[in-house]
Amino acid sequence: MQLIHLDSKTAVPVTRPGCTGMRMIAMAQGATYDATALYFDAHASSDDHAAPFDEWFVVTEGQGRVSIGEETSAVREGDMVSVPRNVFHRYWTEDEAMGALALTFAAVPGPGLVRVPDLATLSRNAAERFVLLARQAIAARGRFSIALSGGATPRPLYTLLASPGFAPRVDWTRVYVFWGDERAVPPDDPASNFRMANETLLSQVPIPVQNIHRISAEKGAPEAAQEYEKTLRDWFQPAVDAVPQFDLVLLGLGENGHTASLFPHTAVLHQVERWVAGYHVAETNMDRITLTVPVINAALNILFLVAGPDKAPTVRAVLRGDYRPDDLPAQLIQPAAGHVVWLLDKSAAQDL
Ligand code: 6PG
Repeated sequence: MQLIHLDSKTAVPVTRPGCTGMRMIAMAQGATYDATALYFDAHASSDDHAAPFDEWFVVTEGQGRVSIGEETSAVREGDMVSVPRNVFHRYWTEDEAMGALALTFAAVPGPGLVRVPDLATLSRNAAERFVLLARQAIAARGRFSIALSGGATPRPLYTLLASPGFAPRVDWTRVYVFWGDERAVPPDDPASNFRMANETLLSQVPIPVQNIHRISAEKGAPEAAQEYEKTLRDWFQPAVDAVPQFDLVLLGLGENGHTASLFPHTAVLHQVERWVAGYHVAETNMDRITLTVPVINAALNILFLVAGPDKAPTVRAVLRGDYRPDDLPAQLIQPAAGHVVWLLDKSAAQDL
């Protein structure tokens, strides 16, 4: 999933009564949008190519109005505007007046960095991405494989995904759930990442039980890791020497720079043969099971969810500081071909 950015090289000024701004003529992936207002001219000439762009936008600052066809809705910071591709195609190729798509953007701080006001907006933003990524993956490959994150941050996201505003928008029969990591505790233990996801989401949506691949953490970290790795091999059946490629991996960030259960100064950080590791984490005095770096970095999409002022110094160190992955394992997350987005609430991003 590419975060949509525009720059003045990929858009041309348009003027029409009551509207100023820029009309997109192509979507440069990775460039950064720098205008402050954008209007789609509703009368794109038919020779405007239907740019192979994604179909959603993030309102990163301020607010705006989205009018597509007869529907107009107010959008604000952190909102996702999902514009169905067929609408765009109709928009671009049939030269059909459709109304105007008016958004107020501010410069996006950089490819893959999205700041939103608070955890509620972050969760809504992440939920919209989940829905869209699921729709795209299912359309393209008939399935959506996701590795969930643990901890507290994703809890409101999971609750939101189970809500009437989101759950009906996902074909849960095609969603296949895994975990990025797990604590070596039984599934009903309060510390279990499975338990949290099951309570907030999986028990609330019509996902077939066989689509849920819980890590059998109660068996102890080494055995659970071995079993989980076999589960990945059996399910993904990757080519020889390849690694499983998740459609989406959700990640959090610890104040010490860990992500998943990749903790500072541990041998797991350098594990490139195994897909799953199970080990004792001295720092938390807990045994953990975790996907290893190569598997996470093979993902098509990685979404970090980070909120709260306590994370701000670590966010700055990871994203702006020197590269020192043994101290800050989250710096190891640099997908080979996939796309990583850091979804930050304002307080976590305050030191950037
Ligand atoms: C876990 C997570 C871990 C988590 C971070 C952030 O099992 O705890 O996988 O990596 O994402 O520790 O946790 P919070 O979201 O609770 O701050």
